[in-house]
Amino acid sequence: MSAGVIAKPAVACRSGALRGAVRIPGDKSMSHRALMLGGLAAGRTRIAGLLEGEDIFNTARAMQALGATVRKEDGTWIVDGVGNGALLEPEAPLDFGNAGTGCGLIMGLVGVYDFATTFVGDASLVMRPMDRVLDPLRQMGVQVVSAQGGRLPVTLRGPKTANPVSYRLPMASADVKSAVLLAGLNAPGITTVIEPVPTRDHTERMLQAFGANLTVEAGAEGERIVRLEGQGRLTGQDIDIPGDPSSAAFPLVAALVVPGSDVTLLNVVMNPNRTGLILTLKEMGARIDVLKTRHQGGEDVADLRVRFSELKGIAVPEDRAASMIDEYPALAIAAAFAEGRTVMSGLAELRLKKSDRLAAVAFGLKLNGVDCEEGPASLVVHGRPDGKGLGNAAGAAVATHLDHRIAMSFLAMGLATEHPVAVDDATMIAASFPGFMELMAGLGATIE
Ligand code: S3P
Repeated sequence: MSAGVIAKPAVACRSGALRGAVRIPGDKSMSHRALMLGGLAAGRTRIAGLLEGEDIFNTARAMQALGATVRKEDGTWIVDGVGNGALLEPEAPLDFGNAGTGCGLIMGLVGVYDFATTFVGDASLVMRPMDRVLDPLRQMGVQVVSAQGGRLPVTLRGPKTANPVSYRLPMASADVKSAVLLAGLNAPGITTVIEPVPTRDHTERMLQAFGANLTVEAGAEGERIVRLEGQGRLTGQDIDIPGDPSSAAFPLVAALVVPGSDVTLLNVVMNPNRTGLILTLKEMGARIDVLKTRHQGGEDVADLRVRFSELKGIAVPEDRAASMIDEYPALAIAAAFAEGRTVMSGLAELRLKKSDRLAAVAFGLKLNGVDCEEGPASLVVHGRPDGKGLGNAAGAAVATHLDHRIAMSFLAMGLATEHPVAVDDATMIAASFPGFMELMAGLGATIE
């Protein structure tokens, strides 16, 4: 539930075959970055396919508070930017609602400016540790004021001149990488980020498209070294944002587990740093055809034809986690219908998302009759291919903890279980997937 919004429970019931072709809403990561770079660049940026979700609206409002103009005209979002180095001091705290990525990236973007910016958020966001972003910013000379030990509300004040750092990421996090690079835009000289484990690279691709001098090189031990020259000129661009693979995951898993289903998901980002779920599901026996691969918005995209499949449990390679970090809740649902055991490990980061996703998934699976074991950074799921006995006949609801991916995962599950699956709130699905209920209903899903 977003701040001030009344919780609305939802129930998914065993459904007939899902069928049809659907367009998935725009990629959330790319939408945040397009608004930020558009708002910063000189001149006009036109964005087609922007995700019209609450998380993205919060980023749009923040960019407006920092001096950019953002409006929608004939279905296209138009952003008039201020020019690199020319953001304005906001008059009020920036409220990011539920959006960790919007908050973290804009901390980098504006935190290095020589004025004060305060960041606030909803009940979920104030629980998230922001020190991972604040630590490199401190090294760049940013003064951090936070009463809650690195949690929101946080006020940042940059130095006269920011210090360009060379920062080795202590964890696999695209948010932290991106915050440092965006901060580097306003520091003289070269800012370097070293990534031992590659994460989604939309920031790098989009910075290059806007004209930044950014290079990526492989280090001696295979690490990615990203170098950005600060204080360069960024120029407005036309961007066409393709569909979000992390959103596609929910109808995709639903189609795999509901007998007889045959669904096509149109226009989905196929960036190799985002396709770990597809790879994993294919290894489990999923019938997913990647069709019509093409290029859009600086990314590979494709249509995905997904048919009901008899899945087998596997051990998911740990080093794949970064390429499917948001998809483990959906994968856990597929695992609940797979023959045998699915072992997921290397999941420590999952506890730091919009909710503690590891705990939330394990709780929801158990509540709905699925045998699973939660470790400190792992989850083992014992599947039940026909869904017999699964679901909650008494109507007990999964606690979603303001987390859209928990809500959508369990609603997908309930389409194939013997008994219904309920979630305590579905309002926050609007953070990332407006129209989820209508899209699923259009495929034949029964969700009330
Ligand atoms: C995101 C990065 C990921 C992901 C989040 C979006 C991004 O988090 O979980 O939903 O757009 O940069 P990490 O920072 O942990 O990689």
